[in-house]
Amino acid sequence: MKEFARGARAEGRVIGLVPTMGALHEGHTALVARARKECSRVIASVFVNPKQFGPKEDYKKYPRDLEKDAKTLEEAGVDVLFAPEAADIYPDGFRTYVNVEGISERLEGRSRPGHFRGVATVVLKLFEIVQPHFAYFGRKDAQQVRIISEMVRDLNLDSEIVVCPVVREADGLALSSRNAYLSAGERNAATVLHQALVTVRDELSRGVRDAMQLQTALRRILGAEPLAQVDYAEIVSADTFEPVVRVARPSYAVLAVFIGKTRLIDNLLIEPVSAGSEDLLFQL
Ligand code: PAF
Repeated sequence: MKEFARGARAEGRVIGLVPTMGALHEGHTALVARARKECSRVIASVFVNPKQFGPKEDYKKYPRDLEKDAKTLEEAGVDVLFAPEAADIYPDGFRTYVNVEGISERLEGRSRPGHFRGVATVVLKLFEIVQPHFAYFGRKDAQQVRIISEMVRDLNLDSEIVVCPVVREADGLALSSRNAYLSAGERNAATVLHQALVTVRDELSRGVRDAMQLQTALRRILGAEPLAQVDYAEIVSADTFEPVVRVARPSYAVLAVFIGKTRLIDNLLIEPVSAGSEDLLFQL
């Protein structure tokens, strides 16, 4: 992989990387499509990274079908599929980690200790191996994207992060490889995440700016779904992921909700149309 990347760079190619853990869906193929438009060499990685799963999490049962993923990526126009083994990425005695302090401990990091250390470490390794000019990530994992962007800045990496929109089912459920775990009843219940975010968007459109009031609205919708167990539902700064008191700067409504045993995340991006403006733009 490194030889290919070196050769491509020497030929003046623009390398785009789409890092994935496989079990690909249209969210991933949208990342590939964007990379295909902007880069002359598109590389996708498929690697279920053991270091980003907690001991009680779903590493073992995470859906894996490399053959199917390879076909999907080929059809989507990927030039190279990089699918290393865990032992290639983490040789015996591996003990070097990347920790983006502060932001990695909040929200997802609080519920999944060590998760972002695993993500940042593997993404840095992928960047070292693939040498991408651009790397494509979905905004569904908003905190992940923010952490990776901080890492790129702090470590002077030569890759630019491209954040792509959330891809949703017709009823609003954000695409996720973990949706495969949901039973039919849970799949119906899972739309409650989107409904809660739509409610917050409507409240903001009516002029509500108080974070506590918005959070109460989120919890009211989520609380009405018997299969939903809220892990967190907060209004946070898009910069630090710390809670805000009032929505005035770029912010997120962020959710992590168990539907049965499956933990799903989603978010609404809230941005003033211009600095200091009370008028807001929303991205679901
Ligand atoms: O978002 C994911 O699929 C993973 O966290 C990533 C970025 C591929 C790192 O393992």
